[in-house]
Amino acid sequence: MTPSDVKATLSFSDGSPTMDLPIYKGSIGPDVIDIRKLYAQTGKFTYDPGFLSTASCNSTITYIDGDKGELLYRGYPIEQLAENCDYLETCYLLLKGELPNATQKTDFTKLVTNHTMVNEQMQFFLRGFRRDAHPMAIMTGLVGAMSAFYHDSTDIHNAEHRDIAAIRLIAKMPTLVAMAYKYTVGQPYIYPKNDLSYAGNFMRMMFATPCEEYEPNEVLVRAMDRIFILHADHEQNASTSTVRLCGSSGTNPFAAIAAGVACLWGPAHGGANEAALNMLEDVQRMGGVEKIGDFIKQVKDKNSNVKLMGFGHRVYKNYDPRAKLMRETCHEVLDALGLHNDPIFKLAMALEKIALEDDYFVSRKLYPNVDFYSGIVQRAIGIPVTLFTAIFALARTVGWIAQLNEMIGDPEYKIGRPRQLFSGSTPRNVAPIAQRR
Ligand code: SDX
Repeated sequence: MTPSDVKATLSFSDGSPTMDLPIYKGSIGPDVIDIRKLYAQTGKFTYDPGFLSTASCNSTITYIDGDKGELLYRGYPIEQLAENCDYLETCYLLLKGELPNATQKTDFTKLVTNHTMVNEQMQFFLRGFRRDAHPMAIMTGLVGAMSAFYHDSTDIHNAEHRDIAAIRLIAKMPTLVAMAYKYTVGQPYIYPKNDLSYAGNFMRMMFATPCEEYEPNEVLVRAMDRIFILHADHEQNASTSTVRLCGSSGTNPFAAIAAGVACLWGPAHGGANEAALNMLEDVQRMGGVEKIGDFIKQVKDKNSNVKLMGFGHRVYKNYDPRAKLMRETCHEVLDALGLHNDPIFKLAMALEKIALEDDYFVSRKLYPNVDFYSGIVQRAIGIPVTLFTAIFALARTVGWIAQLNEMIGDPEYKIGRPRQLFSGSTPRNVAPIAQRR
């Protein structure tokens, strides 16, 4: 980061000493005001619940311009990556900072492929869950449990441990998600096959049975791989910040990623794709396109607590570029499956059109985000709604790892420990219980 010629000066109306605060510039995006010495010099904290104006780190991985609707992974526009690369190339890019050449891609793909099996003991964890357990409950448990198997790669300060833990997590997430699915439908687990692509392997583990092979449809496999690419990383979102804060204690990478899985589950974050599809199905049950007006009235009524799931974003105040790409994929998949008259897709398109024209949403800069269309694509592929967020976690694992590794590799990093504004009781004495009212 580059010191700016401009300084920030903090002055107080009570005549307390002013303080110069350095400003730093990144390569693109907003400058930052360095407040690291603020408390020591003024005895005051900054106050920013939800961190709307706070940069938590200096990162080189992903850049988002919310006003332009721009998303770059290591400088490459998401549109170009979705068009020209596959997910494992994107993983290599996020982890190492550069796209792989042909040899590097072959070697990386082979390395990941050869780590796709999980320890046979892992299957016994699933037996403790009810068959109707939510896949994200299972995944939170399974990812954390991985740290019980890989004592040779849990020292986060050891670069070799970090590398092998990254490969293991990226390689095994599809196997674990497919196991979580098979467990809930009472079918036997399907082992990975080393002659399949990453996305093709996942879809076979999901949909093959011992009685019947699953021949992946290349359009659907490409769509699945694109879903992985679009969800791979997204700057300092809630789950990534969770992984960074968790990892800052020095805990092992599996535990830190499990914390990210838990955070992503929330409906305001990664759980929004499940919530968005449930919302569309609810409106369809209410009467579909004809009833959109009544639904929109509910959304505008603050007392209803009804949100337009899959719309709005903390950063994007323009169309989420991933939503545009997801929408294209939607058309491709529904056409490939002959579902272009799918009522849910038609409803989604009608809802999007209304939201993009209605001042309530336009004034609040509420545009479709990645979750609005990803659910429709996954539903068309045959993925159950409850598994959508687990697939988001699968895809985001590489982003979490890249961000975690970047933090651990930063010489300035220390354990994260925010402070607070305290508004509770001032010191008081404990009265004997007989004297308490
Ligand atoms: C993801 O951070 C990331 O990068 C996340 C993510 C990633 O890749 O990691 O991009 C993935 O989580 C995408 C977001 C998925 N979530 C949803 O689709 C859930 C629905 N969206 C909202 O809950 C909301 O938009 C958030 C949480 C996404 C963002 O909320 P903000 O920035 O805190 O905005 P806000 O809640 O303050 O909303 C501003 C206004 C409010 O109205 P007013 O009080 O000004 O009248 O817009 C309203 C909100 O009530 N509003 C919505 C709305 N989202 C915001 N009203 C109806 N429907 C919505 N979806």
